[in-house]
Amino acid sequence: MTVLAKKLFIKTYGCQMNVYDSAKMADVMAPLGYGISQSPDDADLIILNTCHIREHAAEKVYSELGRYKILKESRSPDTPLLLAVAGCVAQAEGAELTRRAPAVDILVGPQSYHRLPELVTRVTRQGGQALETDFPSDDKFDHLPSGEGKSGVTAFLTVQEGCDKFCTFCVVPFTRGAETSRPAQAILSEARDLVARGAREVTLLGQNVNAYHGAGADGTVWGLGRLARALAQIDGLSRIRYTTSHPRDMDDDLIAAHADCPALMPFVHLPVQSGSDGVLSAMNRRHTVDDYRRLVDRLRAARADLALSSDFIVGFPGEQDADFEATLRLIEQTGFAASFAFKYSRRPGTAASTMRGQVPEDVKDARLKALLALINRQQADFNAAQVGRVLPVLFEGPARHKGQWVGRSPYLQPVHVMSDENLGGMVRDVTLDELNGFSLIGHFAGDLH
Ligand code: SAH
Ligand code: SF4
Ligand code: F3S
Repeated sequence: MTVLAKKLFIKTYGCQMNVYDSAKMADVMAPLGYGISQSPDDADLIILNTCHIREHAAEKVYSELGRYKILKESRSPDTPLLLAVAGCVAQAEGAELTRRAPAVDILVGPQSYHRLPELVTRVTRQGGQALETDFPSDDKFDHLPSGEGKSGVTAFLTVQEGCDKFCTFCVVPFTRGAETSRPAQAILSEARDLVARGAREVTLLGQNVNAYHGAGADGTVWGLGRLARALAQIDGLSRIRYTTSHPRDMDDDLIAAHADCPALMPFVHLPVQSGSDGVLSAMNRRHTVDDYRRLVDRLRAARADLALSSDFIVGFPGEQDADFEATLRLIEQTGFAASFAFKYSRRPGTAASTMRGQVPEDVKDARLKALLALINRQQADFNAAQVGRVLPVLFEGPARHKGQWVGRSPYLQPVHVMSDENLGGMVRDVTLDELNGFSLIGHFAGDLH
């Protein structure tokens, strides 16, 4: 019997967890004969892995679906195209999406994509639409095959999913469900497998990654600090990162791990969203600006070379000029190596969407512009401050120019060096000579320049 090779095209939106999930969807479809295609044109199955976080992200899905509908209609009956929507828009909009976009064959939420093979088989045999957006009682991780083939030098590893925080602006608790943590053993074995396939860095993922509280290898409950230390024991694993953390879940042990676990990279994404206590309270972040300042001090005391990045929302309902100015002040005082800024987007079903004091679009635009100017300046200053320093660089592969290699500093800055050696997967100390846009150019520390 010949197994027909089928083609799967996956388009991914949103956060790193969606990137991880897309790779897992490719893994679950492989046994059915589906290989990854780089283009939708010759695909037998297209999966859109979607994001619902802001209105703009969700709307993009519908315009993309319009395009794939035309592609689908152009196919002959012997080369049909199946269209699947996965991820957070599928979860949030469910049946509504299949009404608005009837060309969609399969709808699968982020907790159910291990059932994709069964849904694809069903729709192929019987036609019609298949919807799977319950939060199933079985653990999807128990059903996911381990990946095959080589891993990249850097890899994502989901350790925690879901969120119980209910920040008033955010859809994640609705799209990803309640917080759950994977058992430490499962994570350690996935990490060992990734390292065996070539990974040298893992980024631990969770919507609230530092709320991790998984069953430990010794029967106790482990926090993220404990997990990071255990991962650091894996031979060949040079670097550990985690994202996204919440200020409230940054516990003593994780802070201590930054002091005593060199593999834990000194670069932490710690979103604060706003520098105003009033806005933080209305957002239900459940910490004050001073709590955040103290936390930053403790992290920096644990590891002096630690740098931070953050997310900010401008134009949250009720945000006044003075609140916004307080945010700018916090940014100036803290000094972030990189940040993301978003205009508040009203999301259906969230508490903030019906709050009074919605901020006009032009005010949001002006605040976003001012905030971006500040965070971009801080990022440029931070990058420029690395020139002259020696930093360890994890090399990922050859760069565009012949003989040039590219890797990342501990702060995720791209670093280029010239070398005849195959540097892929190696960590080398590099003297940074020059900043070129966002990337640094250097030479091996110790080599003559
Ligand atoms: N769990 C993370 C955030 C996940 S969402 C945390 O607690 O920080 C990623 C970012 O999207 C958030 O940090 C926030 O800045 C932004 N965001 C979420 N909902 C938003 C909304 N309704 N409008 C604008 N930005 C939003
Ligand atoms: Fe959303 Fe808040 Fe949960 Fe982060 S902590 S995912 S912002 S509800
Ligand atoms: Fe978007 Fe869902 Fe991630 S809403 S940011 S894809 S958790």
